[in-house]
Amino acid sequence: MTQKTLAAGAAPAVPGDGAGARFAELHRGYPTIYHLRERARRRLPGFAFEAGDGGAGADLGIRRNWGALDAVELMPRYGVTTSLPPTDTELFGQRLGAPIGVAPMGSPGIVWPGADQLLAAAAQQARVPYCLSTVSGMSIEEAGKIAPDSLWFQLYRYAKNEHAVGLDLMRRAHAAGARVLVLTLDTPIRTTRTREVLSGITTPFRFTPKMVAQVLASPSYLSAFLSKGIPRFGNLIKYVGENAGINEVARFNQQEIRGAFTWEDVARFRDVWKRPLVLKGILHPQDALKAVSLGVDGIQVSNHGGRQVEALPAAIDALPGIVAAANGRSAVLFDSGVRSGLDVVRAVALGADFVFAGKAFLWGLGALGEEGPAHTFGLFADEIRAALGQIGARSVAEARAAVVRHPGSWRL
Ligand SMILES: Cc1cc2nc3c(=O)[nH]c(=O)nc-3n(C[C@H](O)[C@H](O)[C@H](O)COP(=O)(O)O)c2cc1C
Repeated sequence: MTQKTLAAGAAPAVPGDGAGARFAELHRGYPTIYHLRERARRRLPGFAFEAGDGGAGADLGIRRNWGALDAVELMPRYGVTTSLPPTDTELFGQRLGAPIGVAPMGSPGIVWPGADQLLAAAAQQARVPYCLSTVSGMSIEEAGKIAPDSLWFQLYRYAKNEHAVGLDLMRRAHAAGARVLVLTLDTPIRTTRTREVLSGITTPFRFTPKMVAQVLASPSYLSAFLSKGIPRFGNLIKYVGENAGINEVARFNQQEIRGAFTWEDVARFRDVWKRPLVLKGILHPQDALKAVSLGVDGIQVSNHGGRQVEALPAAIDALPGIVAAANGRSAVLFDSGVRSGLDVVRAVALGADFVFAGKAFLWGLGALGEEGPAHTFGLFADEIRAALGQIGARSVAEARAAVVRHPGSWRL
């Protein structure tokens, strides 16, 4: 039997998907996720790139996430690894292809028309979670058909009438087969994304003459737009009326959404949702302890990818404090700033059970359209294998025992 080597680019895009040749071809032009971002910047209409790439304020939070991840060092152990390590892992009783999933993103169809469907299909193929946002373009029911084994559902807080809309969305997610319900806690207030404002993006969304000119100058985007149309809020249409236009639904969303979940709300949803429940956006260890006391199954350490307030700690710097607080009583998930398989392994080495990325997948779409999500997964898988092998971890589980130097770590 011949053993595989650690050569980058040689591995199949995702375990067992048979996409090796195409992955290797794309890998020559786009060997990292950074290259996908640069290509997306050049190829997309300006407003579409800004919608997916921008953060709060002057993007300091985004840069802090990146810088803090870059600063994490892994001490290798040699003499143990001779073959390419597998990337599979287990979470909530499910065997998954790799410890990287698609974070919930509202309106990704602005960045690339049809993004929701493409991301869901690629996650299903890669056997990893695809978390559908409440304010996605695609409905929960459609997502359940595209990603029957991978669907998670993220909920924002619709508290009017005793959470009537929120509880109905939860029931629909259950019926559609969502394996995990994710409650987002880190959006108590609406904040300004400077680059969205500057590029003319408003809620409700309207095409300005400048945006139309940008679309016309981007043939690939134009053709995707003509075939997929304006993204709708697939989950919310039901509550406004089947014939409601996108702006009516956006107005409904603005009026109905009420800050972020309180601990009382969390207890209530915990009571009715019997499958795994995750709280997203936790940074303070005391909040992690509160989450554990309410019996949640997962705590997702996140600062919303730097999109809320730019003075928040880098999520990776908060991770060790949360891992210590959870102390094995809840899974610890991580997102914010992940741009490589190496970042995934850094987070796993610091105690994360699973990792999500948002913008990296949007850059893949912006750079390569339909082929983007699979290539992004391929890069993640390839780099995870290489990072594991390089530090002497024979599996994702073994990476948890790696020796790490982490200068920014917060422990409160
Ligand atoms: C375009 C965009 C839309 C997002 N929409 C949501 C959302 O609807 N719900 C949510 O919980 N998080 C949302 N997020 C945050 C992501 O789930 C995730 O926390 C973040 O993107 C991770 O950081 P990264 O982009 O650096 O990987 C959004 C992020 C982006 C980039």
